[in-house]
Amino acid sequence: MGIPKEKGIDHTLTMMMEGYKYIANRRNRFRSNIFETRLLGQKVICMGGEEAAEVFYDNDKFKRKGAAPKRIQKSLFGENGVQTMDGAAHKHRKAMFMSMMTPERIDDLLAIAEQQWDIAVKDWQKKGRIVLFREAEKVMCRIACQWAGVPLWAKELKQRTEDMSAMIDAFGAVGPRHWQGRTARDRSEKWIRGIIRQVRYGERNPSKETPLYQVAWHRDLNGELLSLQMAAVELLNVVRPIVAIGRFVTFGALGLHDFPETKEKLRSGDEKYSRMFVQEVRRYYPFGPFLGARVKNDFKWASHKFKKSRLVLLDVYGTNHDSDLWENPHEFNPERFQEWQGSPFDFLPQGGGDYDIGHRCAGEWITVEIMKVSLEFLANRIEYNVPKQDLNYSLVRMPSIPKSRFVMEGITVK
Ligand code: HEM
Repeated sequence: MGIPKEKGIDHTLTMMMEGYKYIANRRNRFRSNIFETRLLGQKVICMGGEEAAEVFYDNDKFKRKGAAPKRIQKSLFGENGVQTMDGAAHKHRKAMFMSMMTPERIDDLLAIAEQQWDIAVKDWQKKGRIVLFREAEKVMCRIACQWAGVPLWAKELKQRTEDMSAMIDAFGAVGPRHWQGRTARDRSEKWIRGIIRQVRYGERNPSKETPLYQVAWHRDLNGELLSLQMAAVELLNVVRPIVAIGRFVTFGALGLHDFPETKEKLRSGDEKYSRMFVQEVRRYYPFGPFLGARVKNDFKWASHKFKKSRLVLLDVYGTNHDSDLWENPHEFNPERFQEWQGSPFDFLPQGGGDYDIGHRCAGEWITVEIMKVSLEFLANRIEYNVPKQDLNYSLVRMPSIPKSRFVMEGITVK
C-alpha cells in the first residue's frame, strides 16, 4: 500500500485557493501525514508533522538546489543565495550569517530597536492616526540598516522599506504583486551593490562586526570574494527579513487587541511571559506556509519510496497547528510554551532542524528578541485606541496580514 494520491492533472490553482491550509486539509482528509499530488506541472510529495520535519531536515536525504522556483528567487530570495546551497558550500556561507548573531551584537540590535521605537512614536503622536504595519516596517528598516552598517538617508527610507516589503509580499503571488517584488529586488540589489563597491574601494569603512563588512569581505571556500551581485543578495538576506519582523509585530498587536488578558500579563514585566507571548504569535499567526526541498538520492520512509529529484513540501503552517503536537492548536494561548520542551521539529515558524548545518533561519534568535522589545513597547510604553476597522486576515493570501493593517489612533506616551 502506497501513500494517498490526489487525483487530477494539476492542483496549483487549488493550492492558491486554499493557501495556508492546502496541505493540512489533505493530511486531514487522507488521514495521512504524507500524500502525493501534482503542482507546477510535476509530481510533488507533501508532508507535515514532527517526524516528517525530521526527515525533511536530514541533509543526507534532501537538498535545496533546484527546489525554490525561479520566480521566488527573482522576487523573495535573490538568485543562488544561501537558501539554495547544499553541503560544504552551504555550511561555509551559513557560518557567515551565524557569526553575526553574537550576544554582543544582539545587545547592540536591541539597543537600536528601543531607540528607533522611541523616535517613531514622537512622530505618531503628531499624526494622531497611523497604520501600524507600515510604521513597523519602517522602524524595522531603520533598525536593520543601522545594525547592518548600511547607510540609509531619511529621504530614501520610504522607498527602501517599500521595496523590502514588496519582496516579502511577493512570495505567494502571481500577477502584479509578483512583478512589484521583482522590480523591488532589482532596485534593492543595485542599491546594495553600490554600497558594497564603496566598501571594497575603500570609500566606506564599516566597522568589522557589521554585516556590511562581513559580507563585503567574505571569502568562499576557494578563497574568492563573493561577486558584487552575490554579496548584494546575501546582505539583503539580512536587511529584508528584519523588515519582515514588522509583520509579526503587527500580528502581535492584533494578539494584544483580540486577547486583552495577554496585554495585562505582558504589562507585568515578566520576561518569561514576554517570550511565551512572542512564541505564540509566531506559532498562531500565518507567515511561511510551507518549505520545499528535493530528494538527494532514492530512499524509503513511511512506506514511500522517495525518488531522486522529487520535489517535497513540508507543511509549516499545518505543523504549527497540528493537534497531535499542540493542544487546542487554534486557541491563542501563550502559556502553552511554559510546558514546551523545545523540539527542533514541531515548531517551525522559521524552519526546523539545526542552524549551522541545516537551513533553519539564521535570524530566529534576533526575531524573537526584536519582537519582545517591540511588543513590550506597544504594551507598556504607549497608550492608543484601536478604531473600528477590518482586522480579519486571510488564510488564502500568502503572506497574510490583517486587512486594515492595524490602524491606531490617539497615541500617547505613558
Ligand atoms: C531562512 C523565516 C527573520 C535570515 C528562513 C527560513 C524561514 C525563515 C522559514 C527557511 C528555513 C528552511 O529553508 O528550512 C523567517 C521569518 C522571519 C525571519 C518568518 C521573521 C519575520 C530572519 C531574520 C534574518 C533571517 C531577522 C536575519 C539575519 C535568514 C537566512 C536564512 C533564513 C540567512 C537562510 C538559512 C539557510 O538557508 O541556511 N527564515 N525568517 N531571517 N532566514 Fe529567516
